[in-house]
Amino acid sequence: MHKIAVIPGDGTGPEVIREGLNVLTAVAKKTGLKYQTKEFDYGGERYLRTGEVLPKGAIEELKTFKAIYFGAIGHPDVTPGILERGIILNLRFSLDQYVNVRPVKLYPGVQSLLKDKGPEDIDFVIVRENTEGLYTGSGGFFKKGTNEEIAIQESINTRKGVERCVRYAFQLAQKRKRKKLTLCGKTNVLTYAHDLWERTFNEVAKEFSDIETDYSHVDAICMWMVKNPERFDVIVTDNMFGDIITDLGAALQGGLGIAAGGNINPDGISMFEPIGGSAPKYTGKNTINPLAAICALSMMLDHLKEEKAAKLVENAVAKAVKNDIKDLSAGKMGMSTSEVGDLVSQYVLQ
Ligand code: IPM
Ligand code: MN
Repeated sequence: MHKIAVIPGDGTGPEVIREGLNVLTAVAKKTGLKYQTKEFDYGGERYLRTGEVLPKGAIEELKTFKAIYFGAIGHPDVTPGILERGIILNLRFSLDQYVNVRPVKLYPGVQSLLKDKGPEDIDFVIVRENTEGLYTGSGGFFKKGTNEEIAIQESINTRKGVERCVRYAFQLAQKRKRKKLTLCGKTNVLTYAHDLWERTFNEVAKEFSDIETDYSHVDAICMWMVKNPERFDVIVTDNMFGDIITDLGAALQGGLGIAAGGNINPDGISMFEPIGGSAPKYTGKNTINPLAAICALSMMLDHLKEEKAAKLVENAVAKAVKNDIKDLSAGKMGMSTSEVGDLVSQYVLQ
């Protein structure tokens, strides 16, 4: 029995998670997998009502689940940063989900923003460090609000944090056909932080003689991802660069409508989410694309070692984008959010 915590969150989160759960019902019917869900109302609405981001005991309770299925966080009436830091980053940090795995895969039938590139060119995975770097909240203000103000935001990079992330990326590369890992950094400017990254990468590489290694500066990688995405198999990078290049990756695979990720703690509780955010302008319209949430479900099933169920969901998504869904953008799919959920469920049950 898989105990799954569900956090639909804000904006379009609940709409897309509903369809993910719809597909989960179908795949359970098809494969016999047993699961139980419990929903948590963490998010902007709860915060506005109670002044609380995560209630006391939330992390302890979440630790009793096998995985977390997460929608989105972000509310137009809440100052940016409160919910992000209080909920999503808090969960990633407290549960020590130290890598964020974001596949960039173009399915046949999906129009990439790159006009000359097809599914054979765009199939790689970005492994983003998920608990350190610029995201730790280290730093502060001095003389805030005066014209002598100083704002410092520090990037924290620990040997342990970098090494476990890099090792995860090598292990992932080992499971893939091409067996190539690219380190994405900025060693020519971040001569401390990314020196540590580069040294660690090169040392860990010695344990993985079957993996081809490569290095690219982050600015150059943005260019290569657009120009020659076929260069990449697995990319490993720090938290901030990973945040940026995964949105670029999403554009290559057809947009945020289909981009999913997993916040992974290989020895603990992992959390799976569509990466697109709460999209307030589409909230409640039944027009948002639920495929990213459904792909996150597939990643979660795979993580729970329900490989057959994961594959069934992925194949159903592939069929839906090949045969039925015109455009992956919200409002342009040619069908509603719930119709897409039903369609994928039907393909699962076929
Ligand atoms: C993401 C998001 C988050 C991040 C925000 C919501 C804090 O952009 O998951 O990529 O920056 O990590
Ligand atoms: Mn992001």
